[in-house]
Amino acid sequence: MTKINLNGKPTTLKMDPNTPLLWAIREEAGLTGTKFGCGASLCGACTVHVNGEAVRSCTTFVADVDGADVTTIEGIKGDDGTLHAVQQAWIKHQVPQCGYCQSGQIMSAAALLKETPNPTDEQIETFMAGNICRCGMYQRIKDAIKTAARGA
Ligand code: FES
Ligand code: FES
Repeated sequence: MTKINLNGKPTTLKMDPNTPLLWAIREEAGLTGTKFGCGASLCGACTVHVNGEAVRSCTTFVADVDGADVTTIEGIKGDDGTLHAVQQAWIKHQVPQCGYCQSGQIMSAAALLKETPNPTDEQIETFMAGNICRCGMYQRIKDAIKTAARGA
């Protein structure tokens, strides 16, 4: 048994500790906003926050998060239901096309802005480089990150 704080709720995971966190999130906790893309830390679709940092849940194991705070796309909004600034900017810029990569993009962007509240283009490109978008929405992603950074 692995105990985590999942989106602010104490949660016990019964899955084998050697299971990727992504499976526990999707199959055991039933939170399907986090996506499986490559399974090898190459695409970013599975990005969640562990203790506030962006991690790839496909290559993070349940055992690695024992006692940790884990946040998924379902838990990133405020306690009062207000969307995260990044989510609001995503809507404003109509970022998604197919949407498959988007929860991972949003989780990475939120982690970037926590670490670097006013990132340069280069910092955005470097931080977000591991989040692949097959639909090529990179310019909209960058514009939305800047809007979120400005708080506009
Ligand atoms: S599914 Fe985890 S990085 Fe691609
Ligand atoms: S919106 Fe389709 S993969 Fe990114």
